[in-house]
Amino acid sequence: MDKSVKIGLMGLGTVGTGVCKILQDNREVIFERAGTEFEIAKILVRDLTKPRAVEVEEGLLTTNPADILEDDGISVVVELMGGLEPAYQYIEAALSRGKHVVTANKAVIAAHGARLIKLARNQGVDLYYEGSVGGGIPIIKPLRESLVGNRIEEIMGIVNGTTNYILTRMTQEGAAFDEVLKEAQALGYAEAEPAADIEGQDAANKLVILASLAFQTPISLHQVYCEGISRITPDDIAFAEHFGYIIKLLAIAKRRANGIEARVHPTFLPKEHPLASVNGVFNGIFVRGDAVGELMFYGRGAGDLPTGSAIIADIVDVLRNRRRDSHHRVETLWTHIPVKPMDDVGTRYYVRLHAQDKPGVLAQVAASFGAEGVSIESMIQQGRGQDQPVPIVFITHEVEERQMQASLKRIATLPSIKDIANVIRVEGGMPL
Ligand SMILES: NC(=O)c1ccc[n+]([C@@H]2O[C@H](COP(=O)([O-])OP(=O)(O)OC[C@H]3O[C@@H](n4cnc5c(N)ncnc54)[C@H](OP(=O)(O)O)[C@@H]3O)[C@@H](O)[C@H]2O)c1
Repeated sequence: MDKSVKIGLMGLGTVGTGVCKILQDNREVIFERAGTEFEIAKILVRDLTKPRAVEVEEGLLTTNPADILEDDGISVVVELMGGLEPAYQYIEAALSRGKHVVTANKAVIAAHGARLIKLARNQGVDLYYEGSVGGGIPIIKPLRESLVGNRIEEIMGIVNGTTNYILTRMTQEGAAFDEVLKEAQALGYAEAEPAADIEGQDAANKLVILASLAFQTPISLHQVYCEGISRITPDDIAFAEHFGYIIKLLAIAKRRANGIEARVHPTFLPKEHPLASVNGVFNGIFVRGDAVGELMFYGRGAGDLPTGSAIIADIVDVLRNRRRDSHHRVETLWTHIPVKPMDDVGTRYYVRLHAQDKPGVLAQVAASFGAEGVSIESMIQQGRGQDQPVPIVFITHEVEERQMQASLKRIATLPSIKDIANVIRVEGGMPL
């Protein structure tokens, strides 16, 4: 076995730089733990002239992917470019040439994970992707290794720092969504094009990865119900507070008798729930296994050093496997559990309406809910409107989505209802 293992790094942006910094700072201890020395032999970038935040040896940078993919001396490829293409193509090429791959690319793993895992297994190489969910939080390895004795029953995660930052500021300051988004963009906590975060697609990608691993079944992005946070108002946050809840964007996967639920949406969570205190840009992932019970993983879900920490751990795993010649400890996706259509998913709901303040309105709304089998757990009506519509807020008992949608259709046709302002699912039991 050669003395120093050669690694090809694809991407020297935020995470790639973090990896290089950690390697510079903790070099000795990492080598000792890996049981072997390694070196970054080539770094693929787009622009050779760009100033870099770490010092890199002259001649290391390249714009030609073949310098890594076609170099037989490079046995580990670390892909940190992001985006679907050409990253997917490069990962596939690396695995096909018998190279181990470490990546933080949630888009590629969510879209092509099952196929790439199969390819890695067939090639007898490793494919590790700890950094793809939760940045620096170890969650992939616990699901893949530490929890193998469990049937995982439920995962609920705050896996998008941007939306958690926005919701935290809205909760703490009573501020409006647009205002906080603008500030988050100015501070660099939100992208100039924030749709993937705000509308929940980023969290949905991460849920695909977590749920596929937890339930050992391939799940596709199109099977995940996805709703973002742009409709949340200070009124919703205030009503949540009134009932003892806090609003979080959750990625939820549950194993039910007749299939898996996979959904991303804003959620009322009791203030006492462990996820309720995950604030700002932090991430938290709550897991329930039948043997272990409840677990909570918490930490920085992004950033150069936190994500770099996860990448280094994967690299060290690859190198340890290499020493023991025990590669391809990759997961087997061996079941095919159906994903339930959203219509069949049952939750409790918060419903906020605006109605004319007239006698009989409440009875009409209650009758519309009742006609579809929706029963009401709590209700408040605020203020006296005179000519102005007033807010009426309901929390329901658990019903299926189809029942809720059918009752909302009925309510929308009532002449005294001005609008259905928002509908938010409720999880995590009753507040104390
Ligand atoms: N940022 C985080 O905190 C974080 C957290 C968890 C996971 N991740 C994931 O980690 C990956 C990297 O994210 P990042 O934030 O580090 O990205 P980034 O800052 O945008 O860096 C991307 C790097 O890849 C290079 N690159 C991009 N496309 C390329 C191409 N077609 N050919 C050659 N080089 C190319 C860029 O080269 P130039 O430098 O020359 O432009 C840059 O060095 C993504 O998959 C992301 O989802 C990021």
